[in-house]
Amino acid sequence: MTRFTVNNQPVHYRMDPATPLLWALRDASNLTGTKYGCGNGHCGACTVDIDGQAVRSCQTTIGSIEGSFVTTIEGLSRERDHPAQLAFIAENVPQCGFCIPGMIMAAAVLLKKNGNPTEDDIREGITNLCRCGIYPRLVETVLRAAR
Ligand code: FES
Repeated sequence: MTRFTVNNQPVHYRMDPATPLLWALRDASNLTGTKYGCGNGHCGACTVDIDGQAVRSCQTTIGSIEGSFVTTIEGLSRERDHPAQLAFIAENVPQCGFCIPGMIMAAAVLLKKNGNPTEDDIREGITNLCRCGIYPRLVETVLRAAR
């Protein structure tokens, strides 16, 4: 049994420790805001916060994070009012929207580490991919969230 905390709730998954966190979150915890995009660590649609780091959950086994604190998009804020969430809405960022939960989680972690990022910090710090090409708005959005 693997134990850690998801969105401030203890979880005990009776799953193979080699199970990717992405599937434990989606299938066992019904936290479907974390998305499956590429499944190989490139796109970042599956990004969650693990102990303050933006992590690709498709590449993270549940057995490797025993005792960790995981935050998903569902747990980022009580009222969906994290500055990153509000900025994504204000800047009207989403197009298809699929990558947005992972983008917001990556932005939230970046802002937690660096409350006053430069444009280069944002471009280098958020490596998530978007097929709709929101990148110019992404930079503006994270700058807005930091204000
Ligand atoms: Fe995990 Fe693409 S689904 S990085």
